[in-house]
Amino acid sequence: MSSTPTPLGIDIGGSGIKGAPVDLDKGAFAADRVRIETPGSSTPKAVAKVVKEIFGEFEHMCGDAPVGVTVPAVVTHGIVRSAANIDKGWVGTDAAALLSDAIGREVVVLNDADAAGIGELRFGAAKDAEGTVIVATLGTGIGSAVIVNGILVPNTELGHLEIDGHDAEKRASSAAREAEDLSWEKWAKRLQRYFSHVEDLFWPDLFVVGGGVSKKADKYLPLLKLRTPIIPAKLRNDAGIIGAASQAWAVKQGKASR
Ligand code: BGC
Repeated sequence: MSSTPTPLGIDIGGSGIKGAPVDLDKGAFAADRVRIETPGSSTPKAVAKVVKEIFGEFEHMCGDAPVGVTVPAVVTHGIVRSAANIDKGWVGTDAAALLSDAIGREVVVLNDADAAGIGELRFGAAKDAEGTVIVATLGTGIGSAVIVNGILVPNTELGHLEIDGHDAEKRASSAAREAEDLSWEKWAKRLQRYFSHVEDLFWPDLFVVGGGVSKKADKYLPLLKLRTPIIPAKLRNDAGIIGAASQAWAVKQGKASR
C-alpha cells in the first residue's frame, strides 16, 4: 500500500462545489472529482451540508488528514470576511469551525485564488519560480494570489482594484466576457488594461492565468502586450482543490499556519 497522503480538497464556487482527494506526490487528483451544484441560496448552512456529502464520498481515502476548503472570499484564520460572489451570510462566519463541526474533522479554509496560487506554486506553472509571481484566476470574479519567493501574501483581492471607475472584475472577469458576449479580441483589450495596471503596481516577474478559461489561453494571451511574461495555469481549474489539499496537509505538518 502506498503511503502517499491523499488529503481531500473542496472548492466552493458560485455554481458548483467540487472535491477530490489529492495525491501530494503527483500534485494530481487521486480519484475522480465529485461536483454538486451550489445550493440556490448558498448560505453557510446549506453549503456545509454539501461539503459533508462530498466528504462522505472520500472519507475512506483521506486517512486522518485535515480537509482543505476554498471559498471565493477573504479568509483570515478560518473566518470569512467578505462575500463578493456568495451569500452575504458568510461574512463573519467561522467557516473552519462550522465545516469541522459538520464533518467531524479538522478543516483548513482559504481564499480560492490563494489556494490556486499554492497549487500552481507547488505543482504547476509557478513551480520553483523566484521573485514575485501573481496568479490571477478569471472566473465569476477575478481572484489573485501574490507569491514572493515562494511565500504567499494572502487575501490580496486584486480583482477589486478600481480601474477607470469600475471594479476591475466587473469588466475583465470571464463572467463579464460571457455576460456581454465579448469577442476574444474585445475581452483581451480589457485584460490588457487590467494586467498592465497590475504590472505597473507590482512589477512582478511572472503572471499565471487560472480559472476555467485558462484552457482557452491561446485565444487571448497572445494578444496581450506586457513587459511581464504571462502564462496559463498548468493545473487549470483543478489548482484550487490541489492547493487546498496541499495546504491542509502543510498545516497538519506544522509547515503552514491557518
Ligand atoms: C472575491 C475574491 C475571490 C475572487 C475569485 C472576488 O470577487 O472578492 O475573494 O478570490 O472573486 O473567486
